[in-house]
Amino acid sequence: MNTGSTNLGIASLGLKLPSRYLDVRDLAALRGVDPDKFTKGLGCHEIALCGEGESVVTLAAGAAKRALARWGGSPRDLGLLVVGTETAQDMSRPLSAFVADELGLRGAIRSYETKHACYGGTVALRQALEWKASGASRGKAALVIASDVALYAPKDPGEPTQGAAAVAFVVDDASVAAVDLESFAWAEPAFDFWRPVGESFPRVDGPLSLECYEKATTECFRQLADGKPLDEVLAAFSAVCFHVPFPKMVKKAVMKLGEANGWSEGVTSALFESKVMPAMDWNRHTGNSYTAALWTGVAKVLAGAEQGARFAAFSYGSGFGSELLTLTAGPKAKEGAWKADVAQDLASRTRIDAETYLAYRGA
Ligand code: COA
Repeated sequence: MNTGSTNLGIASLGLKLPSRYLDVRDLAALRGVDPDKFTKGLGCHEIALCGEGESVVTLAAGAAKRALARWGGSPRDLGLLVVGTETAQDMSRPLSAFVADELGLRGAIRSYETKHACYGGTVALRQALEWKASGASRGKAALVIASDVALYAPKDPGEPTQGAAAVAFVVDDASVAAVDLESFAWAEPAFDFWRPVGESFPRVDGPLSLECYEKATTECFRQLADGKPLDEVLAAFSAVCFHVPFPKMVKKAVMKLGEANGWSEGVTSALFESKVMPAMDWNRHTGNSYTAALWTGVAKVLAGAEQGARFAAFSYGSGFGSELLTLTAGPKAKEGAWKADVAQDLASRTRIDAETYLAYRGA
């Protein structure tokens, strides 16, 4: 297979988690639900929540500052700023303008927001990569950010899956990871998860969103396999990262992938345990962070990876669009400097109780 390898990719990485969290068992007690439903039934553990003065903008800017500090380039070396999000602050003004304000970025730079539910961050990354590969960048780098605050209406069945986080990349050389130019997309129009104009919270058709997510998984991985046995193709990858609405949904999609490829349940479970689960470690602390969810997982498995290790990253956004990317760890992956972002934010954040959560949500 021609992977379209280049020396382009992620040159630097930063993450930002908000300052508060709620344990889903406390939410279960508040809502009168068996906690096992949230922990075992959905695989959820913690919901990251914004505190006073925090928002999708401050998370995005926080992650970006960390990625930029590690990069070593100057803001003048950036020619593109793209923020993928579904937590729009305005129907016209792009989130990138709010973030540029925080970062003090202005001048000879293209700045915009991408929206495609949870797939928006991946689209931003792809555009930056293809902009670099096309020669249009004139040697400049891109700052790409995936940032979201995922909140459902109080008491919505999706409430235990809430969360927040931001991941930022400098897209330039492949010091952290090369991203293959060839990728595998699949899209179909559907109303599985959407937020009508003027409404604060999403509407979800849970069973349909699972069906769409499973179909997208099967179709993207079928293209990756390109007629070869998928298990053999996946053997070359150290980890297979998924968009994580909640961990059980990922498990269901992997089981479906196994069924579609005629694997025994044992083979599928082994793949899930060894290559999929480890990528969800940090997602357990953030909950769903929409555009940032997949990239939180990719950041997790890249941290500490040997140079040359291969990774697959499956992105899904309701509506629906999906894309499977392949990456190769670069020389800076082993050190995994961005682990410090997560360690610092987890160590300094505050666990809130159910009463505080209730006051925060108003119901
Ligand atoms: N102990 C253990 N497991 C339990 C349980 C208990 N006491 N009570 C329920 N469960 C299990 C159920 O069996 C079910 O597991 P299964 O799916 O493997 O059968 C799971 O918990 C969820 O229960 P369910 O009744 O289906 O939950 P729900 O109707 O409250 O729906 C969501 C909750 C989160 C599944 C639904 O709201 C949803 O799909 N939301 C969003 C999807 C999404 O994020 N899509 C966006 C983009 S992809």
